[in-house]
Amino acid sequence: MKLIFLGPPGAGKGTQAAGVSAHLGVPHISTGDMFRSAIRNQTPTGLEAKRYMDAGELVPDSVVIAMVRERMAMDDARNGYLLDGFPRTVDQAIALDEIAAPDAVVDIDVPDERLLSRLTGRRVCGKCQGTFHISKLADEHTCPICGGALYQREDDQPETIATRLKAYHEQTEPLIGYYSGLGKLRRVNGDSKLEDVFKAILATLE
Ligand code: AP5
Repeated sequence: MKLIFLGPPGAGKGTQAAGVSAHLGVPHISTGDMFRSAIRNQTPTGLEAKRYMDAGELVPDSVVIAMVRERMAMDDARNGYLLDGFPRTVDQAIALDEIAAPDAVVDIDVPDERLLSRLTGRRVCGKCQGTFHISKLADEHTCPICGGALYQREDDQPETIATRLKAYHEQTEPLIGYYSGLGKLRRVNGDSKLEDVFKAILATLE
């Protein structure tokens, strides 16, 4: 299956993508994770992306589309994918339709007022890349899965979150209409327990 997760920053795309991609047997492809890895490795793409990400703005379409095109050409994406964080503009969606059009698009819907606390409380494991929330952690510095050190993403500061939300509403939200028009959109309430969101996603894909 070729699947896209759409939704604002903090909607739970990455959290749900881990379980859903394993369930469907397709690779989880996150453009945000790809950029963060490129930044760690100080590649030209990483250096270009960093200034936009630090500001909470979208990386230019040409950079993102070239990176996704290359990733989609890899063997594991031949029989399907779960894209998380791409496309984020109508031009990216048009490019994806040419590369490998999605079968379905799941929009994980969460009201803005819930997103700030989710993002400021997010902690990520530097070792296994697991994502957690401080409200569920006994020790906010240590990964409960692998014992790795947890860190806070640089773009999870309130001012940057505000810019990311603005970018979402102005540039990404129009994709709801784009995919609805193609008959591919499925909407899921993301403002409920993790396990209920997971079940709702699988139910909408049946
Ligand atoms: P990216 O990494 O894609 O960030 P994002 O879309 O802003 O989404 P997040 O990763 O912040 O949120 P999420 O929905 O995955 O939530 P999560 O599951 O972690 O992009 C970062 C940057 O890269 C962009 O700003 C841009 O600069 C650049 N970029 C990336 N792709 C691009 C593209 N295509 N074009 C241009 N630029 C691009 O959950 C968040 C928190 O909530 C966690 O703490 C989690 O534990 C908690 N949580 C999750 N679900 C629930 C629930 N049901 N109940 C309670 N808490 C929950």
